[in-house]
Amino acid sequence: MRIFSGIQPTGRKHLGNYIGAILQYVEGQQRAADAGDVAIYCVVDLHAMTVPWQPAEMRERVYDTAAILLAAGLDPERCVFIRQSDVHEHTELAWYMGAVTAHGDLNRMHQFKEKSAKQRDLVSADLFTYPVLMAADVLAYRAHEVPVGDDQRQHVELMRDVAQRFNERFGEVLVVPELRIPEVGARIMDLQNPTSKMSTTADSPEGTVFVLDDAKTVEKKFKRAVTDSDDPPRIARDPSKPGVSNLIDILAAARGSSFAEAEASLADARGYGDLKAATADAVNAMLEPVRERYTALRADEDALEAIFAAGAEKARAITQPVLADVRQAIGVGSRG
Ligand code: TRP
Repeated sequence: MRIFSGIQPTGRKHLGNYIGAILQYVEGQQRAADAGDVAIYCVVDLHAMTVPWQPAEMRERVYDTAAILLAAGLDPERCVFIRQSDVHEHTELAWYMGAVTAHGDLNRMHQFKEKSAKQRDLVSADLFTYPVLMAADVLAYRAHEVPVGDDQRQHVELMRDVAQRFNERFGEVLVVPELRIPEVGARIMDLQNPTSKMSTTADSPEGTVFVLDDAKTVEKKFKRAVTDSDDPPRIARDPSKPGVSNLIDILAAARGSSFAEAEASLADARGYGDLKAATADAVNAMLEPVRERYTALRADEDALEAIFAAGAEKARAITQPVLADVRQAIGVGSRG
């Protein structure tokens, strides 16, 4: 069982990213290894250039992201950890996959519609073909499983269609991957606006807890979290109580416990203040060691480059034979 996932290069990973994606990555590297296979995790700098970007900042954000992932427990010895632009098979396969991707399907992508509407000057062709590159990322490894957030569902469905269409036309060359959306933490909500997902671009930065926020800031944000005015206060997961439910979800995820255990631990609470304090403590206990390791890892860019170089080499050992098979199947390149 081979896993592939990609993550955007930003230094501002928040609790939703951490619980919903990064913890799943760490768990996945073990699950893949137990199955005698490997997990590949990719910092997607090429996807980050589908909207306007600053060249000097790009590399910095890639380092930031790499340091966060490594600090969280990704082990480059146990998984394949790469920077997308280092492994040229991704872009080469993207061109081949474009041949079996329907223009009309790309036109239906929600993310393209949203992102293109926001562009003030240029809507690039790369923004439009973004899902083709994403398909190539995964298909180049014959990965079986793609852990992503719910917002990426449509892209994974498209990549499945692309792989199927390719195989129908050219033979069983590619693996059709499965979508995997994490149950826990898939929906960490904004602390100020608990009916919207936590995001980097929220209206109120107070509602978003960043992995690199210091302990005091984390405490403050939880203290101000929106709950409800139930009298007496009721600490329970319930769709009519989005703020309280979100805090319980975060508490459970940060402690690595079940929702029921998190609820039960607050049976004697006097009010929502206790829930907020317990959640802030659990989040700080989870993130403090990550923040410490981050600082050390981020300071050594040469070491990060060495990790990427080693990762790219392991990656190419997987992708080059796949690309050779694809070229044979479609009749381009040397006869072989
Ligand atoms: N598009 C994904 C996101 O924004 C990132 C990504 C790029 C990805 N390539 C991928 C995710 C391949 C899974 C598999 O979150």
